[in-house]
Amino acid sequence: MPNTWWRGAAIYQVYLRSFADGNGDGVGDLAGLRSRLPYLKDLGADAIWLNPWYPSPMADGGYDVADYRDIEPVFGTLAEAESFITEAHELDIKVIIDVVPNHSSTASAWFQEALTDPSTRDRFWFRDQPNDWQSIFGGPAWTQVPDGQWYLHLFAPEQPDFNWDNPEVHAEFEDVLRFWFERGVDGVRIDSAALLLKSDTAYEDLDGVHDVYRRWRQVADSYDERVLIGEVWLPDQERFARYLRPDELHTAFNFDFLSCPWDPAELRRVIDLTLTTHAPVGAPPTWVLSNHDVTRPVTRYGRADTSFAHGGALHGTPSDAELGYRRARAAALLAMALPGGLYVYQGEELGLPEVEDLPDDLRQDPMYARSGGTNPGRDGCRVPLPWSGDEPPFGFSPAVAQPWLPQPESWRKLSAEAQLADLDSMLNLYRAGLRLRRELLGDGTLHWLPYDPAVLAFTRDSGLTCVTNLGTEAVRLPAGEVLLTSGPLEDGALPPDTTAWLAG
Ligand code: GLC
Repeated sequence: MPNTWWRGAAIYQVYLRSFADGNGDGVGDLAGLRSRLPYLKDLGADAIWLNPWYPSPMADGGYDVADYRDIEPVFGTLAEAESFITEAHELDIKVIIDVVPNHSSTASAWFQEALTDPSTRDRFWFRDQPNDWQSIFGGPAWTQVPDGQWYLHLFAPEQPDFNWDNPEVHAEFEDVLRFWFERGVDGVRIDSAALLLKSDTAYEDLDGVHDVYRRWRQVADSYDERVLIGEVWLPDQERFARYLRPDELHTAFNFDFLSCPWDPAELRRVIDLTLTTHAPVGAPPTWVLSNHDVTRPVTRYGRADTSFAHGGALHGTPSDAELGYRRARAAALLAMALPGGLYVYQGEELGLPEVEDLPDDLRQDPMYARSGGTNPGRDGCRVPLPWSGDEPPFGFSPAVAQPWLPQPESWRKLSAEAQLADLDSMLNLYRAGLRLRRELLGDGTLHWLPYDPAVLAFTRDSGLTCVTNLGTEAVRLPAGEVLLTSGPLEDGALPPDTTAWLAG
């Protein structure tokens, strides 16, 4: 298997609305992102994955796509997107975009046509009678249109599901892929990838979905080095691995690792399971600690229950900030040392906590409204980044004091500027870790070292040894030169909730 770029890439996830605002309207955009490309280069990003950047009414943060071949005006223009791709490539950074094939937007031309001309409704999932399915965001999964028919939306009512039994839908998306590959995009992250096909009684992981990705793989393979990345949340690893067969997707997000509690036996189980699941299909594993849908690691790891589950996101549960921060640092070096691809969600490198006290009237995530306010939703991990300065907007916007979601005053200590000046900061840990990772790691697997059960210790073929102490006592390190640690050693020993990298 050729060592293609994504197999070991460090991929930085940009949630565009919250990354950097270039034009001063309080919402992040392409101008802001372009101005911060040197930051991402210095951080060590091999690639950027952007959440949807298409025209959208923003009923679900852009996952309600009105036009798959253009750019949301709040973010910029298609010409700016092309300039961004060129500039990223000049810095040797690849560009991955989000493709949303399960559903569209009620504002899309196709859906508008379906409303006025019922003969075109076969592109969506219209029925005379709804079934009892519930939306993943809460409430019924069906909405009635004025003439009496119902359409399916597994997510918000503004996100009508496509009908993947219709060849026109296949042709449309294959063309959309080509549209962006022609513009130099290096890969796509496929939203809700296991949900596309439906029957009248089921919608998750139906067998026909694999034919979709076999066709997409042919499209990707007709270009040079393009990657297909699946958002596949499936409890069954055997079923998960089917998406990664050699003629389907190249990689998929490792949500087991993301959801795993800070527990040595559980982490080891998940790491081993990940490796044994991926090996037979020859796909590189991926390591993910956070994204725009989940509680920030610093907050999660400071709680009594350190796991993550969508249904029970444990909002407002007490969290020990200092403990969470220390563990998040240790987790970062652990994730970076594992074999395969790495994802870093914006703000993770700054150690941002989840913002749990956003005013309810500013919450935008449909999960909040559709749960009747019982689930505060995902806005808390989407607050705009602090770049510099002592008060909001912390350099996020050149004009407005308050971005689209307010930043906590306490973030002055967490700005990129403040952290660059502090050698021990989370940002400098990520920079050092990503640099060493690129120099020292490579493809291949890991070899566990015999150790205390509370310790995860392994070597990589390159000679790097990674030791993470999840116990309550400091432990002795193996022989070797210490290259990097997530926290200070105690008389040469590795304290609890700390990771060390050593040269073998
Ligand atoms: C994915 C996205 C999430 C979005 C959902 C519906 O899970 O990551 O943000 O709300 O799909 O598109």
